[in-house]
Amino acid sequence: MVSLKGLFLFSASIVCFLSFLSFGFASFTPIDCFLISCGSSKSIQVEDGRVFEPDFGDSDVGLSTNSLISVSNNENGLLSELHNSARVFTKSSVYTISTKQIGRHWLRLHFYAVKNNQHNLKSAVFSVLANGITLLRDFSFSRLGKKEPLLKEYVVEIGGSSSSGNLVLTLSPASGSVAFINGIEVVSMPEGQFDFSVVPIPMGPGFVIPSSVALETVYRVNMGGPKLTPRNDTLWRMWNSDHLFLVNPGSARNVTKDPKSVKYPAGESVDIAPNWVYATAQEMADARVVDQKFNITWAFQVARGFTYFIRMHFCDIVSASLNNLIFDVYINNQTAVDALDVSTKTMALSSAYFVDFAVNMSAGSDKIFVQVGPSNLRNSPANAILNGLEIMKMSSPSNSLDAEFLVHSKNFESSNTKRHVKLAIFATLGGLAGLLLIAMFCFLCFVCFRKPKMVKQKSLSWLSFPNHIGISETKISAGSFASTTPSRALGRIFAFSEIREATKDFDESLVIGVGGFGKVYKGVLENGVMVAVKRGNGKSQQGLVEFRTEIEMLSKLRHRHLVSLIGYCEELNEMILVYEFMAGGPLRKHLYGSDLPHLSWKQRLEICIGAAKGLHYLHTGAAECIIHRDVKTTNILLDEKLTAKVADFGLSKFGPALDQTHVSTAVKGSFGYLDPEYYRRQQLTEKSDVYSFGVVLMEVLCARSAINPSLPREQVNIAEWAMHWQKKGQLEQIIDPYLVGEVSIDSLRKYGETAEKCLAEYGCERPSMGDVLWNLEYALHLQAAARQSLEDENNNTIPDIPYSILRVESGEADEIDIVSHGESDVTTSSGVFSQLINPKGR
Ligand SMILES: *[C@@H]1O[C@H](CO)[C@@H](O)[C@H](O)[C@H]1NC(C)=O
Ligand SMILES: *[C@@H]1O[C@H](CO)[C@@H](O)[C@H](O)[C@H]1NC(C)=O
Ligand SMILES: *[C@@H]1O[C@H](CO)[C@@H](O)[C@H](O)[C@H]1NC(C)=O
Ligand SMILES: *[C@@H]1O[C@H](CO)[C@@H](O)[C@H](O)[C@H]1NC(C)=O
Repeated sequence: MVSLKGLFLFSASIVCFLSFLSFGFASFTPIDCFLISCGSSKSIQVEDGRVFEPDFGDSDVGLSTNSLISVSNNENGLLSELHNSARVFTKSSVYTISTKQIGRHWLRLHFYAVKNNQHNLKSAVFSVLANGITLLRDFSFSRLGKKEPLLKEYVVEIGGSSSSGNLVLTLSPASGSVAFINGIEVVSMPEGQFDFSVVPIPMGPGFVIPSSVALETVYRVNMGGPKLTPRNDTLWRMWNSDHLFLVNPGSARNVTKDPKSVKYPAGESVDIAPNWVYATAQEMADARVVDQKFNITWAFQVARGFTYFIRMHFCDIVSASLNNLIFDVYINNQTAVDALDVSTKTMALSSAYFVDFAVNMSAGSDKIFVQVGPSNLRNSPANAILNGLEIMKMSSPSNSLDAEFLVHSKNFESSNTKRHVKLAIFATLGGLAGLLLIAMFCFLCFVCFRKPKMVKQKSLSWLSFPNHIGISETKISAGSFASTTPSRALGRIFAFSEIREATKDFDESLVIGVGGFGKVYKGVLENGVMVAVKRGNGKSQQGLVEFRTEIEMLSKLRHRHLVSLIGYCEELNEMILVYEFMAGGPLRKHLYGSDLPHLSWKQRLEICIGAAKGLHYLHTGAAECIIHRDVKTTNILLDEKLTAKVADFGLSKFGPALDQTHVSTAVKGSFGYLDPEYYRRQQLTEKSDVYSFGVVLMEVLCARSAINPSLPREQVNIAEWAMHWQKKGQLEQIIDPYLVGEVSIDSLRKYGETAEKCLAEYGCERPSMGDVLWNLEYALHLQAAARQSLEDENNNTIPDIPYSILRVESGEADEIDIVSHGESDVTTSSGVFSQLINPKGR
C-alpha cells in the first residue's frame, strides 16, 4: 500500500545562505530557503545567482519502481538549465520539505515540458497540492499554448493548523498520465509582509487575511518602469511593466526618479517592494492642465469565483512640495481611497507607501479595473499616480486556488492562460565546475536524507492526509473570513417594518435628538437590544450623500470609542441608520444645562481620553486619515458606564458637494469649534479636529458652552477666554466650580497646557491626537497620584471620604469664580485653591 519511495526531506537552509554571501545583494536573509532543481543530477546556478540543488531523487529506487524518472535535454540552449531537466511521476507522489520556521512562505514552482524520449510532458495532465490546498487542478502544459517555461508563485502557510512544520507538496497525475516538475523554491517570508489590514471593496470594515488562506500571485506590475527580475528584488520576485494593462495608454505618462532617493519610512521594510518600483510611476498625461478630468485605467483579466488581494504602491515622486498631490483611487468603479494624499501618509516626498484591498470577483466582470484620477477636492494640481500593483488570488473556502469546477477545457484554458505569470530564466553558468560545487554542497547541506516515500493515489494515508494537516481548522478560519465579504460588511440591512416596530412607528416621545440630517429615535429591536435610529428626510440630495458617507465611514471603522453602526434601511426612499444606543447621551448634557449629576475630574479626564482615542483612531487607524470635521461636546456620546464614543460621521468625508455644504454647516452649526486656520484658508487637515478638541477640553473644564453670547464680550468665546487665563497660568480661575477642591493642580496644569497646544493658531503647531491622548493620560496619572498621596495622608482619620470634606470647602467656589475677575483677589483665591487641592503643597 504505502511504499517508502518518493519522499525527499530537506533540512538545510544553508544552501541559499552561501549563495547569497557570494553574491552579496540580499538585505533579507530568509531562515528557510530551499532551491530545488528537480530531476537534475547537478546543482544549477540561475541568472540571478542563486544555486538550485538537485532533489537527489534516488535514481536506484526511482527506476526500480518505474515511478521516479528524471528526464533531461541538453539541447535546450536558450533556457535556463533549470528547464533542462524534470522529475517525472507516474503515480501520486510527495515532496516533504521540513522547514525551520513556521508561518507563511513563498512557494515557487517551475514547469517546463522538457523534450525527451520517454514521456510527452506537454500533454501530461496532473494536479498539485501544497499542505492540502489545491494549487493546480488537472493542469496541462499544452493547454497553455505557450512554449516558455512557466513559473507559478504562491504564498502558503507552513505549520499553522498542522503540527508538523513541513511543506507537503503532492503531485498527482491524472489516470494514464504523468506529473512533472522542474524546480521548487521554498523561501520564508519576512515578518509582517501580509499582516496589514485589508480594506474590502466595496468599502467595509478592514480585516486581516488569516494565514491559513493561501495566495497566488496573479499580477505584479511596476507602473511606468522596467521589468524587474528576481535579481532586482530582495525577495526574488518578478515585476512586469504595465503597458499591456493600460486601457488607454495615451492617458498616462511614465515618470522616473533616481531610485536612490526613495525613502522607506520607519517601520516599512525595504522588502515590501524594491526602490525601482517606487522610483517609477504613471502619472496623468498632460497633468497639471487646469480642470483636467479623467482617470488612468488598468484592466486585469482574472478568474471569477475568487477573492483577490490587491496591494497598491505609491510614492510621491512628482510633487515639488507636500500636500500637493491629492487623488482618488478606484477598484472596479468603486472608491477605494478618497482623496489620497500620499505625502501626509509618509510626511515626506519620495517616500514609499502601500495600501491593501480585497475584492470579491464572484459575480459580474472577470476583469479587475484599477483607476486613479484627480480628486475634486480643492484647487491642487489635477494629477494622479500609481507606482506599483500586486494582485493575488486568495484560496477559496474549499482550499483551492484553481477553478472549482472544470466543465470543459475551454474554460480552463481561458482562465488559466491569463493568470499565469511567466518567467524565462536564461542559463549563465554550467559545466563541470558546477558539478564540483554540487558535490561540496551536497556534502555540506543535506544533513538529513531519507529514502523516498511514494504514496499511491488511493492509499489510506492519502485519504487521511487532509485530516492530518488539520483541514477542519482551516475551514473555520476560512469561514469566518468569508463572513467579512463586502455585502455583509456594511452591517445588517433592516426592513422598514422592523424599524417601525422598534420605534413604535416613529413615536415622537422616543425622539432623543434632532439634527440637520433628521430625527433620532430611541428604539428596541426584536431581540431586546436598544438602538438609536437616525431617520433622514429623504428629500435632500445632501442627505443622501451624507447617508452614504456615514454608512461607508462607520462600517469601515470599528473602535471602542466610536459609536458603531448596527445596520441601515434604504427601503421606500427611507434613509435610516441604526446605531448602538448610547444611554448616557451627549457629553454636553453632563457638563451643563441639565440636572444630571456632576462629573468628577477623573470621569471628565477619562471621557476626554476616550474621545481622544476615538479621534486618534480616525486619524491614523484606517487606511486613510479621516477628519471628523465636527468635533464638539454634542458629538461625543456616553454609554451607561460613561465610556465616551465619538459620533456623527456624516460630515467626515472629503468630497465636493459635501465640502461646500460643510463650510456653511460648520460656520453656522459648530461656531466656536472651528479651526481658525481652516476658516482662513479653507484647508482642512486633521489638525482642525485637534483644534476643535481643544475647545471641547476647555468646555469640559469650565462647564460652559463654546459660545455663550449672553456673557460679556471677552467671555463669549470659550477658546479666547480660557486661553487668556491659561496664558497667565491661572486657568483655575475659570474652572467648573464643582471641580474646585477636587482637581490636582499638577493635573490641571498638564490639562491646560494640552488644551493650549490644541488651540494653537496654526495647525502645524498643534500636537497630533496621539500626543494629546498621551498628555491627557498623563494628566489622569497626576490626578491619581495626587489623590493617592491625599489618601495616604488621611489614611488614619478619614479613609473613605476625603473628598466630601474638600467638597464642603469648595462651596466657596462660586465666590472664587466671581473674584477671579478682580486682579487683586486672584492671588488669595488661587492661594486657597492650591492649598486645597495640592496636597504636596501643604
Ligand atoms: C516611458 O515613456 C517613453 C516615451 O513616452 C518610452 O519611450 C519609454 O519606453 C517609457 N519607459 C518605460 C520604462 O516604460
Ligand atoms: C536588474 O538586474 C539586472 C541584472 O543585474 C541589471 O542588469 C538591471 O539593470 C537591473 N535593473 C534595474 C532596474 O535595476
Ligand atoms: C466599470 O465601468 C466600465 C465603463 O464604465 C465598465 O465597462 C466596466 O464593466 C465596469 N466595471 C465594473 C466591475 O463594474
Ligand atoms: C473615474 O472612475 C470612477 C470609477 O469608475 C468614476 O466614478 C469617476 O467619475 C471617474 N472620474 C473621471 C474624472 O472620469
